[in-house]
Amino acid sequence: MNNRRRLAILGASGHGKVVADIATQTGWQELVFYDDAWPDRCRLEHWEVRGTLAMLLHDLSDYDGVFVAIGHNAIRDVKLDALMSHGARIVSLVHPRAIVSPLARLGAGSVVMPGAVINAFANLGLGVIVNSAATVDHDCRLGDCVHVAPGANVAGDVEVGRLSWIGAGAVVRQGVAIGTSVVVGAGAAVVADIDDDLVMGGVPARPLMPSSSGSDSDDQGDDTPPCASNVLRLDLMSPKGRS
Ligand SMILES: CC(C)(COP(=O)(O)OP(=O)(O)OC[C@H]1O[C@@H](n2cnc3c(N)ncnc32)[C@H](O)[C@@H]1OP(=O)(O)O)[C@@H](O)C(=O)NCCC(=O)NCCS
Repeated sequence: MNNRRRLAILGASGHGKVVADIATQTGWQELVFYDDAWPDRCRLEHWEVRGTLAMLLHDLSDYDGVFVAIGHNAIRDVKLDALMSHGARIVSLVHPRAIVSPLARLGAGSVVMPGAVINAFANLGLGVIVNSAATVDHDCRLGDCVHVAPGANVAGDVEVGRLSWIGAGAVVRQGVAIGTSVVVGAGAAVVADIDDDLVMGGVPARPLMPSSSGSDSDDQGDDTPPCASNVLRLDLMSPKGRS
């Protein structure tokens, strides 16, 4: 009988590599990737890419856990939904050198990367990414498929709506409410509430014009670095009614 702990990872990209590294460091013994770019993409470094999402749905009983490693918030949301509706055992991953308060709540499908801190009574939804050295302080409420990029600091009691992306090195003042599908640019300082669907930047943060030049591929497994594939195309961020 095979007693190895087997994890399926959907999304064979740079982000997938970081996720696989964390999974290996936290006791997952066998990792198998799936990606809709299969069979063109059949390997990721030394890992096998075994098939598409449809094939993973068929293979679910082969795995002890499933993780969606897709940086693009809206696509991650859709794929998570498909897997959950088929009964996949969605797991969370926390790097051994991240700090997550036992009083915080982390939704299924979330990943907390090296050096990140999540403090007491923070409440994170499904599929949230807290990237390297980012902090999420006490009583924060992060909706499903939010991404807090490397080095961003979210102060206490902040609300972040689903599918929003807090860019690298951004800071968010305590008590602020950020809407759904918001993009906060790298290095921004958010000092006031933000409505849904806005792209913000600067110190203090003000609305920026969204630019198609910044759009990332909606390919789930592009070759961009671990944190580069993300929500820039507002047209892809369709609202969804998962509770
Ligand atoms: C804000 C952001 C999403 C805008 O991307 P974009 O739509 O491609 O915008 P562009 O690069 O075309 O820039 C449009 C304008 O906004 C300005 N701008 C872009 N990013 C900005 C930022 N972070 N802060 C302030 N201004 C910014 C540009 O200077 C430009 O101004 P101009 O029209 O006066 O020349 C992007 O620049 C950004 O900051 N992304 C976050 C990156 C990140 O955190 N990566 C980590 C991933 S894990």
